[in-house]
Amino acid sequence: MFEKALFIRPENAAVSCPVFRRTFTLDELPAEATLAVTGYGVYEAFCNEKRIGDVCMAPGWTAYEKRLQYQVYDILPLLKTGENEIQIILAPGWRRSRLGWRYTPEQLAAFPAALIGEMQFTFADRRDTVVTYLTWQAADSRYTECSIDHGAQYDARQEPDFSPTVEIDLPKDIFIPQENEPVRMQEQFSPEVIVTPRHEVVLDFKQEITGTVKLDFSARSGEVLQLSCAEILDGDGNFYNENYRSAKSLIRYVCRDGRQTFCPTMTFFGFRYLRIDLAPEGFVPESVTAVVLHSDFKKTASFECGVPLVNRLYQNVVWGQKSNMLDIPTDCPQRDERLGWTGDAAAFVRTACYNFDMQKFFTKWLHDLAAEQFSDGSIPPVIPNASGSDVGGAGWSDAACICPWAVYTAYGNKKILQDQFESMQKYVDCIARQADDRLHWIGGSLFGDWLQPEAPFENMKGTSDLDVIATAFFAHSTDLLVRTGKVLEKDVSKYEALFKKIRRNFTEDYLPKLSTQTELSLAVCFDLCDDKIAVSDRLADLVHQDGDKLQTGFIGTPHLLHALSAGGHDDLCYTLLLRTEYPSWLYPVTKGATTIWEHWDGIKPDGQIWQPEMNSYNHYAYGAVADWLFMRAAGICIDVDESGNRTLRIEPHPDKRLGHLDVDFSCDLGHVRVHWHYEGDRPIVKIERDYA
Ligand code: BGC
Repeated sequence: MFEKALFIRPENAAVSCPVFRRTFTLDELPAEATLAVTGYGVYEAFCNEKRIGDVCMAPGWTAYEKRLQYQVYDILPLLKTGENEIQIILAPGWRRSRLGWRYTPEQLAAFPAALIGEMQFTFADRRDTVVTYLTWQAADSRYTECSIDHGAQYDARQEPDFSPTVEIDLPKDIFIPQENEPVRMQEQFSPEVIVTPRHEVVLDFKQEITGTVKLDFSARSGEVLQLSCAEILDGDGNFYNENYRSAKSLIRYVCRDGRQTFCPTMTFFGFRYLRIDLAPEGFVPESVTAVVLHSDFKKTASFECGVPLVNRLYQNVVWGQKSNMLDIPTDCPQRDERLGWTGDAAAFVRTACYNFDMQKFFTKWLHDLAAEQFSDGSIPPVIPNASGSDVGGAGWSDAACICPWAVYTAYGNKKILQDQFESMQKYVDCIARQADDRLHWIGGSLFGDWLQPEAPFENMKGTSDLDVIATAFFAHSTDLLVRTGKVLEKDVSKYEALFKKIRRNFTEDYLPKLSTQTELSLAVCFDLCDDKIAVSDRLADLVHQDGDKLQTGFIGTPHLLHALSAGGHDDLCYTLLLRTEYPSWLYPVTKGATTIWEHWDGIKPDGQIWQPEMNSYNHYAYGAVADWLFMRAAGICIDVDESGNRTLRIEPHPDKRLGHLDVDFSCDLGHVRVHWHYEGDRPIVKIERDYA
């Protein structure tokens, strides 16, 4: 691809958001016409002033040094005979915006706003090609700023002043076609207008989303519309966005005369509220619409039960996923972070694959994970590696093994295992080299049981033993490597023996003294005990001692209910699920949450807000509880045998306190509807299944 095309940039290398232009004449219309394009940043392309395609944030976020996606569009419907014009705006996007802590501002500024593209016109007798070349021109676009953290600033009065482009020598052996579903616009929300005690005019969209705004209004030249984002209002009902840290997340639009529309889609915002900081005279707040953006994956499940708070919890899980699956799985969409944190993805991947068809989404991200893996096998904490760091630690880097296996389980496509096997093996080898002679992975956990509730503020790693966590994940990744190898018919006897040894040592050295909910949950769910029921019983006793409330962070939470269910303690699972006081899944729902929070107590019972330095109201990790709703409450499980054969097992576990349950789920193995309700104390269960 792009053999004859040049990477071009504006003459002035400092232009951060250029628009490129090329005109060309067609004497007749071709039978087919395509534009293939990519660049350093994110682009929006126009043909004869009409937007080409409906993809946003293209070319997407990949391990840019090694993999750069391109997109191909049909532009035939936009062409005419005579003179035609292509314009392509290239904003910094993920490539040239400040993200993570890998690049200094100077290094970032030195990345060129480079574009490469190719148009092909197929006529009855020939094929003509127009490639990016020095015949293209470039200018400052109307975007005076457009970056991931800071949002979009635009001057509608500005007329681009085009000048020549220059060639820039950049690697051309890294192009790959789009691998996942591209980002597209989704739902739209209209605001309710409120005036806060501080007299701020605030638009409430009633749902926290990741996305952008659509503006449609009239104004006079030079008037300014400025909107700021927030996730919550503070205890007094005032606009609050200190938790965005340094991210300005601003939309600033300088008007021209007359009716105008604006919809910035080369950045995104995590918000529920927009404050109108400045507005043209007579501006009607209702002319702002919020537009959701996420990768265009398909819904595969629905969940409904007899407890409205649980239904809202499930909706929050879905919104947490939509909000943080905009091309890559991120921790959060609003503050100056928005990174592909591996641990968050590992915690949530199984749930994600119930809610939506995530096969392509995770396949692309896992290819980036393998591309970013260091030669010694270590996995960075965030993928793509905006951190520059080479260690993510236990529970984070293990995404290398956990995610491919979860994706295979959900979709049964062996290709993901083939693609990732080498990366999984290198990762396990890397940990094996760090383990001590008892195969304990000492010092392997960087973040512990991150954000465990009721741990002291200074100790966000929680109270579980870090080496127990690390060793449990070492075992689990090794086990998943073995299972993967068997599916692929590889000789993994060495790793099978390794897993057995780690497991044996774990049961001898650690098992008797496990003392937290997370430690015990890992022992059950990672098969690190001979008598699961006995360990599940210990866990149930501990939960009771803890006052029938969860005490788990990012590491333990996805496993807690499964570990209790393994010993038949479903009644206790429902008790934990239905608890509304802090700490619990429903507590944030009682506080009006419309997504999953980073902290169990993002808003404390007394109304206080968690410290702004690290407080997101849109972090999906704790939403991992939804896979228990699917796998245990509805009882829809995909079992994988040693050879990799998958079967759909349906075994619901009703509880009267949930009233009824209606779950619908589709996958390649079939379409299932599970319903249960109670007649007196008797559960009535109805299962319908269409085989694929
Ligand atoms: C992120 C997390 C991430 C963590 C690592 C945070 O800042 O938001 O979700 O997993 O760092 O401890």
